[in-house]
Amino acid sequence: MPRDDLTIRPLADAGELDLFQRLDYVLDDELADDLATNRRRPRWLWIATRDDRVLARAGWWGGPDDEVPASFDFFDVDDSLPVDEAVAVGVELVATALRHVVPSGATPPEYGRFIPPDWREDPAARQAVETRFAVLERLGARQLVERLRLEWRVGTPLPKRSTRLRFRAVADREELITLMTPVQQGTLDAHSQSDLASLSPEAAAAKHFDEEFAHFESPRDWWRVATLDDGEPVGFVIAARNTYNPIIAYLGVLPQHRGHGYVDDLLAEGTHILAAQDVPRIRAATDLANVPTARAFERAGYVNFARAVNFTWEH
Ligand SMILES: CC(C)(COP(=O)(O)OP(=O)(O)OC[C@H]1O[C@@H](n2cnc3c(N)ncnc32)[C@H](O)[C@@H]1OP(=O)(O)O)[C@@H](O)C(=O)NCCC(=O)NCCS
Repeated sequence: MPRDDLTIRPLADAGELDLFQRLDYVLDDELADDLATNRRRPRWLWIATRDDRVLARAGWWGGPDDEVPASFDFFDVDDSLPVDEAVAVGVELVATALRHVVPSGATPPEYGRFIPPDWREDPAARQAVETRFAVLERLGARQLVERLRLEWRVGTPLPKRSTRLRFRAVADREELITLMTPVQQGTLDAHSQSDLASLSPEAAAAKHFDEEFAHFESPRDWWRVATLDDGEPVGFVIAARNTYNPIIAYLGVLPQHRGHGYVDDLLAEGTHILAAQDVPRIRAATDLANVPTARAFERAGYVNFARAVNFTWEH
């Protein structure tokens, strides 16, 4: 059990960011700008301290106008603590913070953590990851998925553009949802599968659009529909820029056109569109279990530089 001299509190203001940054994580560099642009709020950044030592921290992220955070993406404990104590401190911190950050009765937002690709083989990385997983499980969250983080780097040869499909812009939200709806059939993507457990395919597609694509500020003519010569749609690719990176946000091949390698044509098109913007890198992610998609990214020159795990309270 944590001793009762533990203090658990949110940051008083942005001036306390240095306290939050006493522990390390790959997103630390984004915190100052996120606070300045209202994507983080001091009341969403929590620390557990004893004397002057920061033993754990937890932080949430949201859009500038969100009242409630959209994701839980910072959670660290001081890994020099004995594991049992680290877990106990983490549980007390996250449980306390959740009571303040999430409205009572609401499902907490999903937790996401970036982890090294070889975390299972590296004993220190594995211990750090498993300590955090133990805390989340004690608080009722369950692992939804492990994902591959992928990156195309400038200097990597561009994949060949399609000579058998044509590409055009997406007409509007309705057209994209009409294409996204059947694409979910047989999907290997865990987030889609989880949505389809409680929503119709059309409602799941609309949710995906409204929660992700609708927020991109990059031009919508980067979203491309692939067609045969006669105009019949084969699939689509969503190239975009999120707050932090140029990304391939999503792609899909309609069920009746699968098995012809069209995924390569879509990915080549999306990669060319973004590379033409002089970007240093393009990011993407796919589930570990989505082997056809992971292979397509590999063929297109993307490298797997990290993994990610998502835990959810929705189960
Ligand atoms: C993943 C996906 C994009 C692959 O597109 P594709 O153009 O069919 O890809 P491929 O032609 O390379 O086929 C990939 C695999 O699909 C399987 N496949 C083949 N024909 C298929 C068919 N008619 N229906 C379903 N799957 C088929 C095969 O296992 C094939 O592997 P193989 O190369 O060993 O034969 C597509 O299945 C899809 O849209 N899935 C749902 C959405 C999704 O997961 N998007 C990616 C999220 S990041």
